Amino acid sequence: MYFFPWVQFIQKFLLLVIIFTSNVIGQTVTIARYIQTVNDLSTLRQILSYPGLIDLFTLLDSPVAGTLFAPTNEAFLSSGIDLTNANGAFVSNLIRYHSIPNRKILSEDLMPSLVVSTSLNDSSLVNLPNGGQVLYLMKSIQGDITINNGNSNGNSNLPVKIIQKDIICTNGVIHIIDSVILPPLSLIDTANNLGLTQFVNTFTNANLLSNFNTSIGITIFAPSNDAFNRPNYLSKGSVDNQISLLKLHVIIGTVIYEIKDGVEVESSDTGYNLHFTVNNDTLYVNNGKVERSDILLQNGVMYVIDNVLSPLDGSGGDAVSNNPNNGFDSGYNVQGIRDKKLIVGTVLGGICGGIVISLFSCMLYKWYRAQKNSKYVISSNVNNNINNKG
Ligand SMILES: *[C@@H]1O[C@H](CO)[C@@H](O)[C@H](O)[C@H]1NC(C)=O
Ligand SMILES: *[C@@H]1O[C@H](CO)[C@@H](O)[C@H](O)[C@H]1NC(C)=O
Repeated sequence: MYFFPWVQFIQKFLLLVIIFTSNVIGQTVTIARYIQTVNDLSTLRQILSYPGLIDLFTLLDSPVAGTLFAPTNEAFLSSGIDLTNANGAFVSNLIRYHSIPNRKILSEDLMPSLVVSTSLNDSSLVNLPNGGQVLYLMKSIQGDITINNGNSNGNSNLPVKIIQKDIICTNGVIHIIDSVILPPLSLIDTANNLGLTQFVNTFTNANLLSNFNTSIGITIFAPSNDAFNRPNYLSKGSVDNQISLLKLHVIIGTVIYEIKDGVEVESSDTGYNLHFTVNNDTLYVNNGKVERSDILLQNGVMYVIDNVLSPLDGSGGDAVSNNPNNGFDSGYNVQGIRDKKLIVGTVLGGICGGIVISLFSCMLYKWYRAQKNSKYVISSNVNNNINNKG
């Protein structure tokens, strides 16, 4: 776009000067008024004046504005979004996705990540139990803040970056960003963008995918293509059991972002639990390792995993799925119970064994000390004797 690097440099420098001076002005005005003072936010200013966004402008001018992520003019240009069609619902919704009502989020609040609800709640784009679509914010160790772009689910798009943070206004805070944040897509579109063809095919053939695609609020674990090629229960058992196995991959009605260590949730309609552990910063669910987490969807969140899930709680899934005697049909109903008994047995056995060993060690140690003390006395006597001789 630019032929001489210095042209770009001067432009960036001027932008910084403008942002810096505006930042000072920003302290005394509302978010809505601040945008009107900054040249590099003129596209956003123009969009906010459209009739479809009067309520958002009013919000940004009110005491409960909260937080606004403001894309620069260049961000709008490079997004390729047709703003001449700006009065349409799409652009209104797009801008709403940049606003967090009634909550002032400063960069220091991110440690290291945060999931927050936005003003985007149009039911044609959002199907979540708690209303507004969320943004997923992350701060790197270096302090750079990025925003999970809803459409960056493909590998090509980069996350949105904050280029000027914490511009404090009288009614909230503005962060200036380098790209437009696109709202998340449906489950089906997202899975297709990610190339999860086996997942899409398998769940479509089982008549489950379109259901999951439209359920209000889902947490879904989508096995990668490689996962389907590994040994798993799918080839075994009746069709009913296969469907039940596939249902294990979803929690309907509950959206769990940033899953933490030790969480246990029942999957939908299966009666089986999904058990989550974090090991060396890697999240595991039953026998699956999470390869990509917190991929936002129109109706929830998706995790890509490296295995087709089996109903076993805990981490021994591989051993079970590779065990030929343990077919899905006969094996899995009892597997969970048998495994719990095994775990309880092992733990109890371990504790009892530990007590016996401890008692024995104590006795041994006492005996050893007694022996050593008497030895020491003896040896010091010898020394004394030698000294005396000298
Ligand atoms: C979306 O939010 C606005 C403003 O908070 C509210 O007036 C509206 O009823 C909400 N719409 C839906 C579909 O929840
Ligand atoms: C998936 O869900 C979205 C949003 O509800 C909907 O617009 C789309 O038509 C659905 N796709 C299919 C193939 O069902």
